[in-house]
Amino acid sequence: MDLKCRFTTNPPRGRKPVTWIFYYGEKQALSNINMPIYDKKVTALIGPSGCGKSTYLRSFNRMHDLYPGNRYEGEIRFFPDNTNLLAPEVDPIEVRMRIGMVFQKPNPFPKTIFENVAYGLRVRGENNKRALDDKVEQALRGAAISGTK
Ligand SMILES: Nc1ncnc2c1ncn2[C@@H]1O[C@H](COP(=O)(O)OP(=O)(O)O)[C@@H](O)[C@H]1O
Ligand SMILES: [Mg+2]
Repeated sequence: MDLKCRFTTNPPRGRKPVTWIFYYGEKQALSNINMPIYDKKVTALIGPSGCGKSTYLRSFNRMHDLYPGNRYEGEIRFFPDNTNLLAPEVDPIEVRMRIGMVFQKPNPFPKTIFENVAYGLRVRGENNKRALDDKVEQALRGAAISGTK
């Protein structure tokens, strides 16, 4: 079975094409990926089951790092600061704070809804109760959920 999948398109105007490759252990799952994702545009990723869509998406916030044996080659450039997300000096936790993923199945922490929403702020060092209350309330109202504290 050929596990390789190729997504190729033109790089953004004025930007160098970048490629990366990904291996689950010995198994190469992505081959020479070169696909720009544009700011403020919706990009759809379509392909048959097993072609590598999830593997591709998980690369962006370094989710594969959580499992031993997984390996990337090449670079993933993140603009506007032109960071190579795969560079060894880049902290994957920092990357995950900048690039979020919304999963098919929600997986909240076993805490209250308030604490789940406040979690990101707390990780960022916000402990002021008033500020947390305001921001959580704003987020819940924005998502049309409230009164859940
Ligand atoms: N954790 C894993 N270990 C080894 N191989 C995997 C793992 N996850 C996915 N694969 C393989 O990588 C390929 C791409 O899978 P995946 O990214 O899940 O495809 P898609 O999301 O497009 O259905 C498939 O051949 C799949 O079997
Ligand atoms: Mg998938």
